[in-house]
Amino acid sequence: MVTRQQAQVTGPAYYDNGRHKQSIGDEIMSETSKLTTTTGKSSELPMISGTHGPDVADVRRLYKDAGIFTYDPGYATTASCKSSITFIDGEKGILLYRGYPIEQLAEHSTYLEVCYLLMYGELPTPEQYDDFTDIIKNHTMVHENIRDFINGFRYDAHPMAMLLGTVGALSSFYHDSIDINDPKHREISAQRLIAKMPTIASYCYNHSRGQPFMYPDNSLSYVENFTRLMFAVPAEEYQPNQVAVKALELILILHADHEQNASTSTVRMAGSSGANPFASIATGVASLWGPAHGGANEAVMNMLDAIHDSGETIEKTIDRAKDKNDPFRLMGFGHRVYKNFDPRAKIIQKMCHEILDDLGGDQPLFNLAMELEEKTLADDYFKERQLYPNVDFYSGIILRALGIPMNMFTVMFAMARTVGWISHWNEMHEDPEFRIGRPRQVYTGAATRDYPAKS
Ligand code: CMC
Repeated sequence: MVTRQQAQVTGPAYYDNGRHKQSIGDEIMSETSKLTTTTGKSSELPMISGTHGPDVADVRRLYKDAGIFTYDPGYATTASCKSSITFIDGEKGILLYRGYPIEQLAEHSTYLEVCYLLMYGELPTPEQYDDFTDIIKNHTMVHENIRDFINGFRYDAHPMAMLLGTVGALSSFYHDSIDINDPKHREISAQRLIAKMPTIASYCYNHSRGQPFMYPDNSLSYVENFTRLMFAVPAEEYQPNQVAVKALELILILHADHEQNASTSTVRMAGSSGANPFASIATGVASLWGPAHGGANEAVMNMLDAIHDSGETIEKTIDRAKDKNDPFRLMGFGHRVYKNFDPRAKIIQKMCHEILDDLGGDQPLFNLAMELEEKTLADDYFKERQLYPNVDFYSGIILRALGIPMNMFTVMFAMARTVGWISHWNEMHEDPEFRIGRPRQVYTGAATRDYPAKS
């Protein structure tokens, strides 16, 4: 039996500083469906409807009423929270930040404008944008001891390892603003993280090159400043290349948020215990590093280089990806949510054409990638499983054309995603329904048994 009723769910103020009052969900319709177990116990499951997306069965009373848990490895059909930040329709290939289509933001916005949008829920007015940009610029420097901290890593440390350690270490440097119950503290920590990520990322890079660490130049834009931090040396004047700046701006916008992906869910889970923002974001960096997630951009380039260098045919590569006895997967293909084109991949592919025309770059590798995409999309195995190129399939080709080394690719992703992570972390703390994350399990170990008697 299905009964319809209306529930009013009012979200909290977001960064309750008087600037915006964005709620998690203004009004949510709910209807109830009844679940009866094989043992005859039953539970009413209220259905929750968001603005877009499928209805969600609220199973919170299920264990109390019917004595059962739900089983969903990988959380593929579980909504872990309510969120008003990002929406994805995987069937239609739609991605919205705060309701705005990614294509429109990619065309008209800047990365800092997108940061403001994700953090505060609305696009900034020109005045708000100027204020926000000034605040971010005021936080670009890092404590001098962070430079020493980074210098303590081995000369050949992976930049992601350095980033992971350094972001966690920020909690020891900025201990003055980590009261998670204070909205102002949460906001300052968010601004610090967004502002300092480019500085830290560039120091991780320059440490491994034995190059000096540059200080930020706040007369430059966020992205110009990052390219200067990465590539300038104190002995010479530096002029940012505007084609490269535009491409990087786009890459950052496309990677800024992606709802409850592995790293964002990790940040929420870590933060749910009350962990401070820097420690929580460090867990996001750790999760992102894996090749099934943010590490895929580096893995795609390794794969394309290997195909190119070995002379292996595209057909052979596709066969290996289909072979269940071979652990090889086509990197940059497939997505948990997108069962159609990843809209970010389309934008990036177009940008590849422009960048390679303007800056030069690895045209043979781009041609190889396009051929691989074409043949893969025509293959029944990939068609049946709805496996399409994802954002990482082409992003590495752009990053390489911009002179960014491969081991920095995932660092770029982490830099861009920091705003998404911190916006979700903050949203969680504002959510009246928020509780510590604590999933249950299906126990499959030994049944209760007695400790053997000792002779
Ligand atoms: N190559 C070959 N087969 C694949 C691939 C692939 N890239 N991706 C999925 N499959 C197959 C998989 O073997 C399975 O086949 P079967 O049904 O016969 O067992 C089926 O497709 C479903 O795959 P799944 O592993 O159950 O799907 P998932 O949602 O758990 O995994 C994924 C999603 C992204 C981890 C996976 O597609 C993958 O490993 N892709 C390659 C890595 C990659 O490009 N990651 C970047 C993701 S986008 C950026 C980001 O979010 O960070």
